[in-house]
Amino acid sequence: MAKDSLTIIDNRTGKSYEVPIADGTIRAMDLRQIRVSEDDFGLMTYDPAFMNTASCRSAITFIDGDRGILRYRGYPIEQVAEQASFLEVAWLLIEGELPTRAQLQAWTDEIRYHTYVHTNITKFLEGFRYDAHPMGMLLGAVGALSTFYPDAKHVEDAANRRLQRVRLLAKLPTIAAFIFRHSRGLPFVFPDNDLDYIGNFVNMTFSIGGRHKPNKVLQRALEILLILHADHEQNCSTSAVRGVGSSHVDPFSAVSAGIAALYGPLHGGANEAVLGMLDEIPDKKHVPKFIESVKAGHGRLMGFGHRVYKSYDPRARLIKKVAYDVFEQTGLNPKLEIALELERIALEDEYFVKRKLYPNVDFYSGLIYQAMGYPTEYFTVLFALGRTPGWLAQWEEMITDKEQKIARPRQIYVGPAERPFVPLDQR
Ligand code: CMC
Repeated sequence: MAKDSLTIIDNRTGKSYEVPIADGTIRAMDLRQIRVSEDDFGLMTYDPAFMNTASCRSAITFIDGDRGILRYRGYPIEQVAEQASFLEVAWLLIEGELPTRAQLQAWTDEIRYHTYVHTNITKFLEGFRYDAHPMGMLLGAVGALSTFYPDAKHVEDAANRRLQRVRLLAKLPTIAAFIFRHSRGLPFVFPDNDLDYIGNFVNMTFSIGGRHKPNKVLQRALEILLILHADHEQNCSTSAVRGVGSSHVDPFSAVSAGIAALYGPLHGGANEAVLGMLDEIPDKKHVPKFIESVKAGHGRLMGFGHRVYKSYDPRARLIKKVAYDVFEQTGLNPKLEIALELERIALEDEYFVKRKLYPNVDFYSGLIYQAMGYPTEYFTVLFALGRTPGWLAQWEEMITDKEQKIARPRQIYVGPAERPFVPLDQR
């Protein structure tokens, strides 16, 4: 009997099966041979919310949730966030290695070349209502890119996939900035390709009458936040991109599915929800009462808890540091005091300790975005901007993985057995 294997005895039949173990997993399909009769479908696993199912093999991001470790392609997040630029990280995630100086230069130039969008995009963005949620606009606009680039459907062609990745990375800051301007009733500012990736985005969002004084500290802080959000292995939105992309739809449609998933308050929308929560707490004195209401089941402590991290989210630790750099420039965000008190009390409270609930990436990011001048409902757009390289890297990995097919989970049917249809007049 092989040592790296699992012996299963089916007590229904008394039969024994040997199933190989590789990389700490068994293959769910190996269970299909376990049947009680010839016409039995075979044993399946039941795993709602994918609590214990690996859906792919991936070489992009490593997380050890118990030890609070996050690495992009093997590089510790702390080192990447401190030393790399956002486009360098995008290259690393997609290509697998850090770019050489020449590669980074060529990559930067290539992205710069594609920053403009078709003017029809400005027209349909203008069609959104003044109070349309920025994430609704973003997912619509990114999905619509597939109509501007119908060649994107040739997902079997590597050079074509690369071109679409460049297009999306280049145009996303432009679209995101246009959405910001639309919400404020301001005219769109077009890309200035003399500026770098972050500088260009900030200029397109905040420039009034061609005048915008860039603050390098704030721009670097934004860049670090985007880097910290760039990938997080098989989270809800990435699984959406992979799942939708597995139908071989174009990458713009697949990424817009990821944006839709990110929009939800349990995922990227949590940074917006954190600010909503902080707004409900008038001052530091009211924090204990708020914590008690969470423990009593009235809502969650937003920005706390994570499916994978069961210790401090390493990104939250880095973000907390960035927050102080930003507040030095902008003045203290008055909500910081409430957030710090929430964190202090929660980290000592039995309820949160027992459940291993720590601040996650979203707990402090909203405070920083707010201090930078972004409205609350725009925060998740910034998360999407950061996550796009990760979605694209994961999409490429999925498309080129010979083991992947269209994602199609099974179900346990619990509905009625066959019954005759009842005509309308007899119901
Ligand atoms: N506040 C209060 N209780 C919580 C929280 C929270 N934020 N998170 C989890 N719990 C409790 C939950 O009620 C449950 O308690 P019990 O065992 O008594 O029923 C226990 O902890 C386990 O929770 P779960 O819902 O089974 O955990 P999960 O792994 O399914 O959920 C989560 C993970 C992130 C959805 C959840 O922690 C949550 O809703 N957090 C608040 C929203 C948030 O901050 N989301 C951002 C996640 S990080 C950024 C990203 O990746 O998008």
